[in-house]
Amino acid sequence: MRFPSLAYFLPLHAFFTTINAQDTSLAAVKAAFDAADLPEDIFLTFDPSVLLEVTFPETSGKDIILHAGIHVPQNDTAGPPSFAVIGHAGKGPFVVAAIDPDAPTPQDPTDAEIRHFLGANFFASVDEPVQHLTNVTPAISEFIQPTPPAGSPAHRYTFLLFNQPPGFNSQTLVNSSTSVENFNLSSFALATGLGHPIGGTFMLVAPEPTT
Ligand SMILES: *[C@@H]1O[C@H](CO)[C@@H](O)[C@H](O)[C@H]1NC(C)=O
Ligand SMILES: *[C@@H]1O[C@H](CO)[C@@H](O)[C@H](O)[C@H]1NC(C)=O
Ligand SMILES: *[C@@H]1O[C@H](CO)[C@@H](O)[C@H](O)[C@H]1NC(C)=O
Repeated sequence: MRFPSLAYFLPLHAFFTTINAQDTSLAAVKAAFDAADLPEDIFLTFDPSVLLEVTFPETSGKDIILHAGIHVPQNDTAGPPSFAVIGHAGKGPFVVAAIDPDAPTPQDPTDAEIRHFLGANFFASVDEPVQHLTNVTPAISEFIQPTPPAGSPAHRYTFLLFNQPPGFNSQTLVNSSTSVENFNLSSFALATGLGHPIGGTFMLVAPEPTT
């Protein structure tokens, strides 16, 4: 068991009063990823330097801001989610990816990873505690709502933020007509120079109970 270092908390302390549900500690996010075996299962080192805030708009009730490991009802995940950065990441550009490593089931993820979102050319709003991300080009893969199949345990829908390397816009490995199944974000990141994520979070979504 690692104790979160005080250094992680100090720069973010100011936000504790305005934020209730979302991630507020880098150490806690990292611990949640480790406890869920995510770095191992997605073949990426996860040592975040900023928080990635992922917000799902809701038609009734309050918008849902993820924290790492939150359970979200399937029918609240229509999205598309919006993204923001808390911490010192600079203005961008950034790449945001969302993957499901548990399709069709965590026990037998033969379709994984499913690419639920892939967008580049995100830029951060400046001089705000929560720096909203806006992409100036259409996403490569638009957001797809989670639909874990009946009988499956909850899937780990994982959102990751990367610094965008020069030349990323010229990558030809994935485009809007590439199958979203059997994606490997790790090998994609290696091939395109994305490297390892600088931030991320994840939600657990189970199949909607059938009546
Ligand atoms: C979502 O599912 C919950 C529980 O199954 C249900 O109570 C709620 O009405 C549903 N919401 C919508 C928008 O369908
Ligand atoms: C997407 O990539 C495939 C395979 O590289 C290619 O055949 C296809 O033309 C591309 N589609 C678009 C819309 O660029
Ligand atoms: C995904 O790519 C990584 C290399 O980055 C590799 O180690 C791993 O085995 C690949 N995963 C699958 C399921 O092929």
